[in-house]
Amino acid sequence: MELKTIKIEARKEIKRAKNLKELDELFKKYLSKKGEIAQIFKSLKNLSERERKELGRKANSAKREIEEMIRKKSKELQEKLRKQKIEKEKIDVTRPGKKFTTGHLHPLTLVQREVLEIFKSMGFSVVLGPELETEWYNFDALNIPKDHPARDMWDTFWLQGNQKIPNPKSQIPNKSQKNLRLSAEQTNLKSERLLLRTHTSPVQVRYMEKHNPPLRIVVPGRCFRHEATDASHEIQFYQLEGLMVDENVSAANFRAIIEEFLRRFFKQNIEICLRPSYFPFTEPSFEIDIRREKKGKWTELLGAGMVHPKVFEAAGLNPKEWQGFAFGVGLDRLAMLRYKVNDIRLFYSGDLRFLKQF
Ligand code: PHE
Repeated sequence: MELKTIKIEARKEIKRAKNLKELDELFKKYLSKKGEIAQIFKSLKNLSERERKELGRKANSAKREIEEMIRKKSKELQEKLRKQKIEKEKIDVTRPGKKFTTGHLHPLTLVQREVLEIFKSMGFSVVLGPELETEWYNFDALNIPKDHPARDMWDTFWLQGNQKIPNPKSQIPNKSQKNLRLSAEQTNLKSERLLLRTHTSPVQVRYMEKHNPPLRIVVPGRCFRHEATDASHEIQFYQLEGLMVDENVSAANFRAIIEEFLRRFFKQNIEICLRPSYFPFTEPSFEIDIRREKKGKWTELLGAGMVHPKVFEAAGLNPKEWQGFAFGVGLDRLAMLRYKVNDIRLFYSGDLRFLKQF
């Protein structure tokens, strides 16, 4: 090729190059050791000195020109590539995100948390007890002896087999004891039947065994009853036990606290009615009905009473020194009133059409 043609061709081809690979091919074609320009230099030896000088100068300048064109084109192509990459990897931060579904709290949990907040603000501590309970704490310690007809008030799920339970009062180490191992009688192991607690009241005794008055606690928790289910009965449900003990706690204190609680929970004034009732572990006992509107329907909401002396005794407290009130309120019942749910079984159904409403 003639030098003139080389320059024209090179310019055309370089201009047309679509990518770096093509450009590299052109570099080889024109500028490599066997390229077009090198051919020109090789042909110089056959020329006269004058011609050689002339053409050599021209070839050198053509070489530089082509080099420069390739350099420019290469920059251009790299820039284009960079822009394409940015375009491709661009993130639109203004695009709405993908929503993913998270769960939410169960209505009973919502109600329980709210109720606990109210009682905590009134100075009550939150205490928990076991769902798997002994016959002693669930019944005997609450003044419900074996074979007493009052046990019929709580249909019970019994567990099979007896359990050896150490009597808590025998746990205190006796320093004067010489024998390193105690005999069966000395360990005072009681053979106890186990059951699913039928109410949260056993925690009254468990707590008073370990803590001295004055005390103010609430105990939320799951309870179980072996009975037929219907719209207002489930085999499991949630209760909140309340207990306040001091030297002078009275039924008037109870009324004030429960009224304050109900007013705050329902965010309106609530009429309450204390009806005489019977529980073996309170004396006197009452049932509390509430009414949210004048002339509205009375709804039975909780059981309560003044702690029975026998219960203090079972927990090792002197009933002549202490008095207090206890109450048990159904959290399911509160949730049903709050959310206007007409069937307690819905809470345990796992039915998403129901649960998604909260
Ligand atoms: N434990 C009783 C029940 O389940 C309720 C109650 C608690 C009554 C405390 C009096 C005092 O039915």
